[in-house]
Amino acid sequence: MNKLAKLDRAYVWHPFTQMRDWVRREPIVITAGKGAVLWDVQGREYLDANASIWTNLHGHRHPHITGAIKRQLGKIAHSSALGFANEPASLLAERLVKAANRKTPRAKDAQQPLSKVFFSDDGSTAVEVALKLAYEVARRLGRTQKPRFLSLTGAYHGDTVGAVSVGHIDLFHKAYDSLLFKSDAVMAPYCYRCPFNRAKPDRADAREYRKCNWECVGKVERRVGAQRKKGNPYAAMVVEPLMQGAAGMIPQPEGWLRRVAEIVRADGAQLIADEVMTGFARTGQASASLFASHHEGVQPDFLCLAKGLTGGYLPMAATLTTQAVFDAFLGKYDEFKTFFHGHSYTGNQLGAAAAIASLDLLEKPENRRTRLQLEKTLREELKSLWSLPNVGDVRQVGLVAGIELVRDWRTREAFDVRERAGIRVCEAMARRGVLTRPIGSVLLLVPPYCTTLKQIQRMVAAMRESIQEVFGRREA
Ligand SMILES: Cc1ncc(COP(=O)(O)O)c(C=O)c1O
Repeated sequence: MNKLAKLDRAYVWHPFTQMRDWVRREPIVITAGKGAVLWDVQGREYLDANASIWTNLHGHRHPHITGAIKRQLGKIAHSSALGFANEPASLLAERLVKAANRKTPRAKDAQQPLSKVFFSDDGSTAVEVALKLAYEVARRLGRTQKPRFLSLTGAYHGDTVGAVSVGHIDLFHKAYDSLLFKSDAVMAPYCYRCPFNRAKPDRADAREYRKCNWECVGKVERRVGAQRKKGNPYAAMVVEPLMQGAAGMIPQPEGWLRRVAEIVRADGAQLIADEVMTGFARTGQASASLFASHHEGVQPDFLCLAKGLTGGYLPMAATLTTQAVFDAFLGKYDEFKTFFHGHSYTGNQLGAAAAIASLDLLEKPENRRTRLQLEKTLREELKSLWSLPNVGDVRQVGLVAGIELVRDWRTREAFDVRERAGIRVCEAMARRGVLTRPIGSVLLLVPPYCTTLKQIQRMVAAMRESIQEVFGRREA
């Protein structure tokens, strides 16, 4: 076994990993990357088909981002945001505010602009900040003294205690029940497995052939109404716009977000958009905006960003919010209305420099055209999976795709999580030089935006062959 692999085995505890299984195998030790390609310590080449857990946007070692980080390193790597401002964080905050308020053709925008940026370190902390702010605003503005949150079934918003409290994946969250604050879950729109969808399984994205009466939206309306009747209206609803990521890449049918945002607004609750996965053009180019909420004309009260913020180069996050929220924390020093929250690396200069460089790339019109083309190519290539009987649903939003494996597409019968269906297919894909990580029985493709046509074809072909290797060479 390679020396680095041995060290890893001896000392490193990996996230979301059963370490007993981990130490039985030699891990892939990544030592280099360029564009959508990764190399391991043995010199083997892989495609980064999940963009290094949905973070990488423009490819590894992009000269524009690498150059920006190097230039920043020539000045300073980090100084504290507690007590001092810095150059890249100030510039980045302005860029984010501009990007978050860019008018989209569909934006009705009675909603206030997002004008303030609170920096933190990763997706969980971006959500944690939004929760704390929404909690305090609800109390300070007299909406409720016991603020409560609503989020979607299957939701994952991170692993800090607040973010876990609004998460609803039992497998991850149940163990910590007594550590958490109470929140409510309401039905997520999961057309493929929706009990209200009367359509028989078909060979298309379930959103396209579903037969329903928007019962999922009705559920949100009733839940919000019921909470109001109790005399304790919700402080906020937390959603991932357009697609729930870690829930299993579950896309929302067009119009769901708009309808739900209207219900939340009518109630006077705040809307927290967790765009940690969906942000920065990941969910497509339906409008010129970089954010999924805007594709449905929705401007949230809180916009949580991380993962792709630095193009996948450095850990950094941002929570954007409105002037009204900011103002609720203003007062004389001894009123102690300060937002008492922060992290040592808040506003990190290297991260901010990388994020500015990433925004430069995202905003170039020719790069938007490239992303559009890549989206189309991915859509075309994914069609080849429909002939496999163990592929139940293929759902794509922009440059994210979830492929749900089932026992038989005609029945939608799910695999038991213990069968490790997704893991086995991903292991077979790795042997073919394509790296991605499943969510249960859902396979993911989340390519970096620099992925070439040939590389997309290799990713999908490896997935197809691997599904056949694991389940047999049957065609539907
Ligand atoms: C939607 C969403 N929110 C929050 C998080 C947490 O982000 P992080 O892992 O950077 O803390 C994730 C991570 O996958 C996520 O997908």
